[in-house]
Amino acid sequence: MSDSVKYLLDEQHLPRTWYNINADLPTPLDPVLHPGTQQPITPDDLAVIFPRAVIEQEMSTEREIEIPEPVREVYRQWRPSPLYRARRLEKALNTPAKIYYKYEGVSPAGSHKPNTAIPQAFYNKQEGVKRITTETGAGQWGSSLALAGSMFGLEIVVYMVKVSFNHKPYRRAFMETFGAQCIASPSETTASGRAILAEHPDSTGSLGIAISEAVELAAQRDDTKYALGSVLNHVLLHQTVIGLEAQQQLEMAGDYPDMIIGCTGGGSNFAGIAFPFLGEKLRGGRDIELIAVEPSACPTLTKGLFAYDYGDTAKLTPLVKMYTLGSSFVPPGFHAGGLRYHGMAPQISHLTKLGYIKPTSYNQLDCFAAGIRFAKAEGIVPAPEANHAVKAAIVEAEKCRESGEAKTILFNLCGHGNFDMQAYTDYLAGKLKDLTYAEDEVAMALSGLPSVA
Ligand SMILES: Cc1ncc(COP(=O)(O)O)c(C=O)c1O
Repeated sequence: MSDSVKYLLDEQHLPRTWYNINADLPTPLDPVLHPGTQQPITPDDLAVIFPRAVIEQEMSTEREIEIPEPVREVYRQWRPSPLYRARRLEKALNTPAKIYYKYEGVSPAGSHKPNTAIPQAFYNKQEGVKRITTETGAGQWGSSLALAGSMFGLEIVVYMVKVSFNHKPYRRAFMETFGAQCIASPSETTASGRAILAEHPDSTGSLGIAISEAVELAAQRDDTKYALGSVLNHVLLHQTVIGLEAQQQLEMAGDYPDMIIGCTGGGSNFAGIAFPFLGEKLRGGRDIELIAVEPSACPTLTKGLFAYDYGDTAKLTPLVKMYTLGSSFVPPGFHAGGLRYHGMAPQISHLTKLGYIKPTSYNQLDCFAAGIRFAKAEGIVPAPEANHAVKAAIVEAEKCRESGEAKTILFNLCGHGNFDMQAYTDYLAGKLKDLTYAEDEVAMALSGLPSVA
């Protein structure tokens, strides 16, 4: 039907494989280095905190990697997710552009994060792990791993960045409902947390600090591993289920995107929607513009350095080559908690450096205004993180209004904002400000980058 709003796939069209962009990269990624020796990391080094299956995926260059049947079975609770044509938004903007969005807020946790939480929990369970530790920013990832833990019978411990822990009590309740333990970070439960609190007793926390706490706990017990909700290759791989479904849905709509837009915290939802399309382009297919949107207050891709850095604040993780603001940088406490990360996925960083991805940034007031405009037209309140993609999509659609071009824009509506009502309350009450990142703090954090030969 030419006036369809939703493009729905039935369960038998749920992808059977994920797409691995490492198979199609024009030049390979720089190696991940051991934090102590600065030599390329080995699978044995990683085995202290990750299960073997995940490590194999992290290093794989196979183009297609099978989605295990028990994972597909759980995915079927909400996947395939709908692709919407934003007809009401197009009308409100009076644009000739065609706007599509893939809606990941239909997952039980309300975002794209269960796409990787489910397989990570599955592989851990398969290898006899009893407990998984992790960090969470907005609470979306912690909720997703809590859900996955309860599906596969695993204990879950979540370090939640303190500013989000205080903003979002219902996220904690959500995690506890699924039997997980949720601790505000920095905490007194780890040496990394205690060290931060000794120096900054009022620390609002950061993803970098919460990762240090979770990794420290995981390394202490043989039956415990760690799971990361973004940044690493295997996480981005699992998220490609989004773009693989979108390819089939756009085919149903008889369309192909001229541009794809996603918000970027660590890069996973953006990669999820964009990589299957970018893979086609890299193999000689159609040209496509990719826009990664980040907050002006944590401008990793637009203002950071492309360098080797640690993934966490306590420098416990391996060194990866990425865009970074420095691992000791603590972004200001703006509401898109999931975008408050100093680094960026190595795959996204590499492809940005090579010119395949264009990064851009917007401040939080403009993003909330865009989110509310979207909500009024389409009836879905986006997560504050997703508002960044919404803002960029509106900007591009308005450019089409000016130029008269009927571009096809696809963006990822990576989550709903139904747990983020405090942020909307503050915005509507005029209490939110545009926070800027402190240039001197970034300069200091960058001056502490490890020197890699
Ligand atoms: C709703 C939502 N969107 C985006 C992000 C950012 O992560 P990524 O860039 O890996 O998608 C998060 C992270 O917590 C999130 O919860």
